[in-house]
Amino acid sequence: MYQLIRPLLFRLDAERAHELTARLLRLVGATPAARLLDRRAACTHPALSSTLAGLSLRNPLGLAAGFDKHGDMVRPLAMLGFGHIEVGTVTPRAQPGNPQPRMFRLPADRALINRMGFNNPGMLTVAQRLRRVRRAGCVVGINIGKNRTTPNEHAADDYLAAFVALAPYADYVAVNISSPNTPGLRALHQPDAIRALLTPLVAANVTLQRPILVKLSPDEPLAAIADVVQVGRSLGISGFIVANTTVDRSGLSSAHTGEVGGLSGRPLEVRTRALIATVARLTDGALPVIGVGGIDSAAAAYAHIRAGAQLVQLYTGLVYQGPWLPVAICGGLVALAARDGFASVTAAIGVDRDKDLFTQA
Ligand code: FNR
Repeated sequence: MYQLIRPLLFRLDAERAHELTARLLRLVGATPAARLLDRRAACTHPALSSTLAGLSLRNPLGLAAGFDKHGDMVRPLAMLGFGHIEVGTVTPRAQPGNPQPRMFRLPADRALINRMGFNNPGMLTVAQRLRRVRRAGCVVGINIGKNRTTPNEHAADDYLAAFVALAPYADYVAVNISSPNTPGLRALHQPDAIRALLTPLVAANVTLQRPILVKLSPDEPLAAIADVVQVGRSLGISGFIVANTTVDRSGLSSAHTGEVGGLSGRPLEVRTRALIATVARLTDGALPVIGVGGIDSAAAAYAHIRAGAQLVQLYTGLVYQGPWLPVAICGGLVALAARDGFASVTAAIGVDRDKDLFTQA
């Protein structure tokens, strides 16, 4: 079915197609026809049940940040079968993001380039929406960032404001220091900067007790990643999301490769997997890693899990494969775990972590 609709969607500018899809999802989700959308049963199986820092999830597959930046599609997206939805990135104040066009398809590479720039309606609007969808039937994470006009010296104030406003209405919080589209954001990987940013969040979290995960960049040197992991661990952070989009353009064949922004989709798959294994090794598997980058099949999701991901997420795969991808991935994960003799998908987490299986990009 999606194979018929996709050529029509792909005739539109990528952001227009996204808006159209979003409008359809919201529309269908608000009517009794939502039952037609509901694939939650197909994505529920004893071998799929998962956990994240004390949270229980129907399955290990989530929707990555960036798809629902406004927090107004959580219910219909949960119906597609995702075990969790990460809303955001949300900043304290509303901001329009970069001028359009700012999202480009690279079909030959099964990839996207985006330079959206944290377009979002601001923390208060999203908090109000999340309050209403608290019982969406899946875990809801909130991904927070800083406003573009806030200098890095004051970044911690933005993250704290967003945390205080949004964390009460989310099951976990993702701290995004890795978007390439907010100038200087990735400098927050530096040890002093990440410590200054996380310390107030951890203090504010004493009463809320939400799992806090830091979303890392695939482009930082491994020493910088190791520093963030060490600082995060020493402060009691719950885990890491590996990883955001890349500014690297190696090996692409589509037009649009010259566009500025973050590259997502299949070209990220292998390098993300290597970084998942690295981060899992750095923590000796003690802290959960959410693996995200290039997943568009059960095999790719399973390989990320074997590399050390406790949960996985996707975004670009949905654009190319369509809304029934979560069902295909969940069914495939059950079969792959059984093929390898595991009683559950969870039992496969990290079994390849120490193998030298991944080419480091
Ligand atoms: C993203 N991503 C993203 N990540 C984030 O932390 N905050 C955000 O606001 C966004 N926005 C965003 C917009 C668009 C159009 C895309 C394609 C991606 C990154 C996303 O969450 C994920 O880390 C990467 O896209 C890699 O996963 P996939 O797309 O290869 O499955």
